[in-house]
Amino acid sequence: MKGHLSGNMSDKPVCVSDFEHRAKRILPKSVFDYYFSGADQQESLTENIAAFKRWRLLPRVLKDVSQVDMSTTVLGQSVSMPVCVAPTAMQRMAHPEGEIATAKACVSAATGMMLSSWATSTIEEVAEAAPGGVHWMQLYIYKDRALTQSLVRRAEEAGYKGIFVTVDTPYLGKRRDDVRNRFKLPSHLRMANFETPDLAFSSKEGYGEDSGLAVYVAQAIDPTLKWEDIAWLKKITSLPVVVKGVLRADDAREALKHGVDGILVSNHGARQLDCVPATIDALPEIVEAVGGRAEVYLDGGVRTGTDVLKALALGAKAVFIGRPILWGLACEVRQRTAAELFPNKKFYLFMFDHKIIYFAGIRVRRCQRCARIATRGTSPLISSYRMSIFGGN
Ligand SMILES: Cc1cc2nc3c(=O)[nH]c(=O)nc-3n(C[C@H](O)[C@H](O)[C@H](O)COP(=O)(O)O)c2cc1C
Repeated sequence: MKGHLSGNMSDKPVCVSDFEHRAKRILPKSVFDYYFSGADQQESLTENIAAFKRWRLLPRVLKDVSQVDMSTTVLGQSVSMPVCVAPTAMQRMAHPEGEIATAKACVSAATGMMLSSWATSTIEEVAEAAPGGVHWMQLYIYKDRALTQSLVRRAEEAGYKGIFVTVDTPYLGKRRDDVRNRFKLPSHLRMANFETPDLAFSSKEGYGEDSGLAVYVAQAIDPTLKWEDIAWLKKITSLPVVVKGVLRADDAREALKHGVDGILVSNHGARQLDCVPATIDALPEIVEAVGGRAEVYLDGGVRTGTDVLKALALGAKAVFIGRPILWGLACEVRQRTAAELFPNKKFYLFMFDHKIIYFAGIRVRRCQRCARIATRGTSPLISSYRMSIFGGN
């Protein structure tokens, strides 16, 4: 019997962790370590995923779900589902086309992609390779403000639809494996949006015994950032501005005072300050503080359709996924000929379990072990969620 079952088993990946395990076998160690790592003891890395498991869904039954529309909008742009792509730096380490492959996949899946300032493809290349795509620009604010402004200008000219400014990276988090590996970009790659080797992170020397990226950030990124700089950013662009990296209600209120158009609840995939809360746990009080005055999104640890559902039910307008995209990119290289696995390059966005659509409305609560119980079951939040995701009562 056992033999019979295993004889029929397929090794086709069916979930994000299958892709992750496969990517670990495919990628060079220092690349996998860079993509995977969290900061310090990686407490928050574990917690981002574990916290999702502590929330329970209470589904409604016997609702007609034959017609389901999962589309929504992010900053006014239509996307086919509330799952968009977070910026992850240096994607050509995973796939020869890197960010271009991601952008094409996002067009196929009709969802939005945020491009990292530290991409290995330029702002313009991504826009040209994926016409009609919804692109947003992730911005690091450099000590050189003219350089920062030029990134914003280029994104505007290339048709990007918003600026997500990362506010949790005054210095780089200590990622121990990157220190051990003395992480730097492979010599054939560069951060494509910059001219000089120093800014393109392609210098051959100068990183000492540390993570090369930590040295880069200390040299180039502005650690003096304050709320006034968000007001400055708002002034220099007509695009909507979202702050990426908020974890507290008071900071969310501060962001609103400074005129932001959205808040991305994020702990940078647990790669910056360790021992911060899981983003799904930080989300409810931020949603409450914002009170509908701006869109609230979440990233960090989203690995299944039910994670998406929980984030939406707790008030996120959409979620962004980081590492799953990198695992998909790495596997696509190996599976290049397996057309049936990744039709039309929609590949990695199918890693998510779209069974979420079969629920006809839910409420979310913590499992009994946890003190805090969310009672949003009958709140307008869930109703509006149900309307927009499930298309009716
Ligand atoms: C390898 C890697 C590179 C990243 N690069 C950036 C970046 O350049 N800019 C940024 O704002 N966030 C960056 N992030 C954070 C992601 O945008 C996102 O917040 C995080 O990956 C979400 O968590 P998840 O990986 O668990 O989905 C990076 C994350 C990873 C894993």
